[in-house]
Amino acid sequence: MTTLLHIDSSVFPGDASASRTVAETFRRTWQEQHPDGTVVYRDLAKDPVPHLTADAHTAGFADPAEHTPEQAAAFARRLELIRELEEADAVLIGAPMYNFTIPSTLKAWLDNVILFGRTAGETPSAKGTPVTVIASRGGSYAPGTPKEPYEYVQNYLTAVLTDALAMDTEFIVPELTMAPHNPAMSELIPLFEASRQRAHEHAATKARQLARAS
Ligand SMILES: Cc1cc2nc3c(=O)[nH]c(=O)nc-3n(C[C@H](O)[C@H](O)[C@H](O)COP(=O)(O)O)c2cc1C
Repeated sequence: MTTLLHIDSSVFPGDASASRTVAETFRRTWQEQHPDGTVVYRDLAKDPVPHLTADAHTAGFADPAEHTPEQAAAFARRLELIRELEEADAVLIGAPMYNFTIPSTLKAWLDNVILFGRTAGETPSAKGTPVTVIASRGGSYAPGTPKEPYEYVQNYLTAVLTDALAMDTEFIVPELTMAPHNPAMSELIPLFEASRQRAHEHAATKARQLARAS
């Protein structure tokens, strides 16, 4: 059974969210290619996972037989998230840019699943799993633009997904999404529209490509 782990983190629902709509294109295409596949879905805006606590952190390095009841409970929650990641054949993450970086809800999910000695370290358990990130943003942080040095979404997620978890990461970047809403950006609306179209095409192509590879 092929499984897609799909994570959304935009605070905006449905069509109001660029990352959700592009992720939906990916997911729909993936499901067309895998009619019997399973999608495990997490909406971190609606149902956030707990922030890491000292118990959840220290439990990751202690013998389970020695866990306090608090450590055992906190670690069980982490393991649920870690297993979802490990059991996925492909991962899809909606990662809108908020204040130059990822939503805190997505950071909390990452803090839970990054466990040295299991998902990270010498033999990362999700090594090689393809992860497609929909990195929507209101402006543009593309190479050569004035705001390029403030890009902390792709830079950060490359560090954790590619370098720490050893996953096979690809970014899809719908940018300039604020153009239709901000009069100062009205000249950028055609670029926004082109970026949106490219992002949907990229998402469908990537989902089909993953299906061929599986
Ligand atoms: C709290 C918040 C902070 C934001 N910070 C930035 C930012 O730093 N840079 C930027 O380009 N856009 C920023 N935006 C705009 C979002 O990146 C933009 O709305 C994007 O489409 C978000 O993805 P979504 O539509 O999937 O929610 C911010 C939006 C919110 C709600």
